[in-house]
Amino acid sequence: MWAFAGFLIISVIIFTVSKPYLGDSPDLSLQLSLRVGLNMLMSTNETFGPQKSYFKVKEVKLSCNSTHPRSEVCDIKGDVRIQGKSSNIVIASTEVFEDKDNDSWSIKPYARKESRAAMEQVSSISIKKAQNKEGLPDCSRNYSIPAIVFSTGGFSGNYFHDFTDLLIPLYSTSIQFNGQVIFLITDKHSIWINKYKQVLQKLSRYDQLIDFDKENEVLCFPRIVVGLKGSIKELAIDSSQSSYSIKGFREFLRNTYSLKREFVNITQGKRPRLLIISRSKTRKLLNAGELAGMAESLGFDAAIKETVMIIQIIPFGLGPMEWISRTDFEVPAKEMNLRYLGCRISPNESSLVHQYPYIHEVFKAPGAISKKGWNHFSSIYLEKQDVQVDLSRFRKVLLNTLELLQS
Ligand SMILES: *[C@@H]1O[C@H](CO)[C@@H](O)[C@H](O)[C@H]1NC(C)=O
Ligand SMILES: *[C@@H]1O[C@H](CO)[C@@H](O)[C@H](O)[C@H]1NC(C)=O
Ligand SMILES: *[C@@H]1O[C@H](CO)[C@@H](O)[C@H](O)[C@H]1NC(C)=O
Ligand SMILES: *[C@@H]1O[C@H](CO)[C@@H](O)[C@H](O)[C@H]1NC(C)=O
Ligand SMILES: *[C@@H]1O[C@H](CO)[C@@H](O)[C@H](O)[C@H]1NC(C)=O
Ligand SMILES: *[C@@H]1O[C@H](CO)[C@@H](O)[C@H](O)[C@H]1NC(C)=O
Repeated sequence: MWAFAGFLIISVIIFTVSKPYLGDSPDLSLQLSLRVGLNMLMSTNETFGPQKSYFKVKEVKLSCNSTHPRSEVCDIKGDVRIQGKSSNIVIASTEVFEDKDNDSWSIKPYARKESRAAMEQVSSISIKKAQNKEGLPDCSRNYSIPAIVFSTGGFSGNYFHDFTDLLIPLYSTSIQFNGQVIFLITDKHSIWINKYKQVLQKLSRYDQLIDFDKENEVLCFPRIVVGLKGSIKELAIDSSQSSYSIKGFREFLRNTYSLKREFVNITQGKRPRLLIISRSKTRKLLNAGELAGMAESLGFDAAIKETVMIIQIIPFGLGPMEWISRTDFEVPAKEMNLRYLGCRISPNESSLVHQYPYIHEVFKAPGAISKKGWNHFSSIYLEKQDVQVDLSRFRKVLLNTLELLQS
């Protein structure tokens, strides 16, 4: 028998405001596998001649992976020192890295590497080795637990990106520490932090989030992860990068927000609840009120915040629009075991008919428009479009939903 979690969501959010890659897959960036070696306890005189000041070095393990198409992550174990205000991370190390010319990296710790627009809003952090005492700043504070450094710049503030670029990668990077981890945040947006406070508190037991860019002191950690593990698919966790899953993330969210009911229970004649999310700026649902009225008359009740079933109203835009809505919502919803129904909008339900004649390329060839670039496509189909849902058509979608709920 089918079971359903919580309530229903009619998502009129529709899809991302970001730049997904339309068509071409992004370039794999330079293959730099920087793996560095292992035991660096000093045992020879060669690296440290008498003229250089001596220091004891802890074992250093460093792995930086920049081959992932979406995120760059460096995981460093050893004696790691952070000078936040100057965006520096210094590792006490004696060994030369495998790539001999490269003993420093610059990382933007945000998981949407392929988008220049996003990455322009993200600060770079430099990671260097210090081979002698002069290059190594003194610790002002010593920590005994690991830290994760990430940026809340990029496209944060947009729900889709909050989840796919930040919350899911943060979960996938930090859940292994079981709360024993400190977050250092660069490009700090307090609004974002307040909005997801519960999630942050669940992932890190330390109330204190450190504002990386304002930190004057030298903070020392036994391990630092710079950057978050992203996923090639939207709202997903790559099983190649992590032993965690998106279903686990869904459970984690239900726990975090104390959502008790995992299933919709309509056995006692209760009306299933329906949440209508109408966007307020672009792709507005122009007849949301009528739609709600109709849903009531069919036996739905008002709303709260639990998802089970997602109905996505997909604005006009044919192939490219369907690709976006599938990639950004349909596929992830199904991965999370949420039931999904899509409802494509026809030209006569789209406000674009008031702006372009029917014979215009906008209606005839959205594919050709998408080939001119994302910005061009988005400026028309995402920014200029509202939706007047054909109620008799949507009635069928709702009846279909009711039927699914009872099956
Ligand atoms: C270090 O240098 C001293 C004096 O030059 C030498 O006796 C010793 O064997 C060296 N140690 C190692 C590990 O090479
Ligand atoms: C780096 O990331 C790529 C892409 O996800 C993955 O295939 C590869 O195994 C990773 N390399 C290391 C050393 O972790
Ligand atoms: C070292 O690697 C980083 C990539 O992490 C690259 O940006 C930088 O240019 C490299 N430096 C040198 C000297 O090759
Ligand atoms: C931090 O640890 C180092 C090495 O153990 C020690 O020398 C230093 O005094 C400590 N600093 C503080 C502020 O506790
Ligand atoms: C649904 O609600 C009824 C009445 O409260 C209860 O007996 C039943 O166990 C519930 N079913 C589920 C699957 O929770
Ligand atoms: C709008 O277009 C759809 C599909 O082309 C059609 O089925 C429907 O009858 C039209 N509705 C109106 C109100 O013209």
